[in-house]
Amino acid sequence: MINIAIDGPAGAGKSTIAKTVSKELGYIYVDTGALYRTVGLNALRNGVDTKDADGVVATLDGLKVSLRFVNNEQRVFLGEEDVSEAIRQNEVSMAASNVSAIPRVREFLFDLQRDIAKNNNCLMDGRDIGTVVLPDAQIKLFLTASAEARADRRFKELTEKGQAVDYDVILKEIKERDYQDSHREIAPLKQADDAILVDSTEMDLPTTIEYMLGIIKERI
Ligand code: DC
Repeated sequence: MINIAIDGPAGAGKSTIAKTVSKELGYIYVDTGALYRTVGLNALRNGVDTKDADGVVATLDGLKVSLRFVNNEQRVFLGEEDVSEAIRQNEVSMAASNVSAIPRVREFLFDLQRDIAKNNNCLMDGRDIGTVVLPDAQIKLFLTASAEARADRRFKELTEKGQAVDYDVILKEIKERDYQDSHREIAPLKQADDAILVDSTEMDLPTTIEYMLGIIKERI
């Protein structure tokens, strides 16, 4: 199976790009952040402080998180409930980042990710795919952009959806999540030694997609 790992910080455009690129290649696209978001959502629903490791670990008991692919599109399930939309709420982002720093949570989600990659040609995105989950992936990309560029894009996206948002708050949240995701002890966000760096600060979306597709097609 061919596995492509894409890692990078929040808001770099990984999922938008990975969706388009995976369609073009006919691979499934696996968004691993959705798994951490689901664990975070479940903890929030149970009134657990997502920074309380023992409390969060207790929620893993009997918890079922799964991914299903409908027309190559990923849906994430909490038990039998499709939570693909619910996990996109803003408060779930920080909850996901919090629970993702807990080693037992990472262990809990590890086999699920590995099994999908073993059985499918896939493009998997996250923070530790090239470093921990799929260290043998044939292609590894690390997609980043300055915090300001990412905040700018997020601000435009939310404003276009009609949401009243504050640019400075968005930038602060992005920086907070970057710091937390790259400073945790276990599987921190970092570029794998053999990953190709793509900095999209000065590139628009179509250019970035074309550039990444070029890199991939050269190698498969
Ligand atoms: O990609 P995302 O923003 O949906 O991810 C939500 C959080 O999950 C992110 O802040 C860190 C965590 N995460 C992780 O630790 N490892 C991954 N492979 C994917 C996400």
